[in-house]
Amino acid sequence: MRNLSEFGPWALITGASSGIGEAFARRCAADGVNVVLAARSTERMEALGRELHRVRHRVVTVDLSQPTGAIELAAAVADLDVGLFVSNAGDGRPGKFLDQEPEKLHRRLVLNTISHLDLTHSLGRRMVERGGGGMVLVSALGAVNGLPNMAHESASKAYVHSLGAALNRELATAGVKVTVMLPGNVNTPIIDRFGIDRARLPFGPFPAARAVDQTVQALLAGRPTIVPDRRMRAIMRLVPTGTTVRMNGRMLGEAADNLARASTTTGKH
Ligand SMILES: NC(=O)c1ccc[n+]([C@@H]2O[C@H](COP(=O)([O-])OP(=O)(O)OC[C@H]3O[C@@H](n4cnc5c(N)ncnc54)[C@H](OP(=O)(O)O)[C@@H]3O)[C@@H](O)[C@H]2O)c1
Repeated sequence: MRNLSEFGPWALITGASSGIGEAFARRCAADGVNVVLAARSTERMEALGRELHRVRHRVVTVDLSQPTGAIELAAAVADLDVGLFVSNAGDGRPGKFLDQEPEKLHRRLVLNTISHLDLTHSLGRRMVERGGGGMVLVSALGAVNGLPNMAHESASKAYVHSLGAALNRELATAGVKVTVMLPGNVNTPIIDRFGIDRARLPFGPFPAARAVDQTVQALLAGRPTIVPDRRMRAIMRLVPTGTTVRMNGRMLGEAADNLARASTTTGKH
């Protein structure tokens, strides 16, 4: 059976301290691929690295919302033969676009867009030089049509979606496979951090490990995009776009209200 080891001895995973990135790290280890774990939470990544004892690991603590973060990360893996890159780190905050502070929007734009640009460019060049590789760019289902109360994140993730889909063709001749993952309702801490009421979700969130398995299959098959979870794919096929955008926008508006209430109670903003 084909697995991730066909791309090379090392994988670089951003946002590896949690959720989808952590699930990618576990999958890499199961396939015998050494991992570089990159995010801000050093202790969580060190604990994860110790668990992945079948393979070697390196932890890189980096804030990818800083303009130099991605460049520093690329330098920190310059000595490794990285054949697989998972560009996954990202974040957001539900709420009305005009209510959010421009400075915070800029930082999230660096995290959700510029860091993907810089790392995809740097790792892409190295993969072409080494004669091949694989890249997973993690976007979001909301990027496809844009979601009210998540306008900025939808837009920044649309960049990642479009970049990866184009590179799927552009880099194919150089032996580099590129797949864009479009998650929506994958079971990670982001759901609660966004203030989303889990009871309002159309169905139970999809396990991150299964979302990663489906993405790996898509990558190995050379597909440009993958929406994990066939229930989400069915919704996309069967429900009119206007309806899903309206429903998701309303749910995110309620999530923003939940966050505002919680911050009034705790005094955190
Ligand atoms: N779960 C879903 O259904 C869903 C839906 C749409 C899009 N996504 C996308 O999927 C990706 C993974 O999210 P997730 O669901 O797995 O959520 P998660 O569990 O919260 O993981 C987010 C990861 O990004 C890292 N990160 C956040 N800010 C960072 C920063 N400034 N610098 C470096 N790393 C940073 C976090 O690590 P630290 O906090 O340790 O830095 C964490 O490892 C994100 O890009 C997210 O937008 C997920």
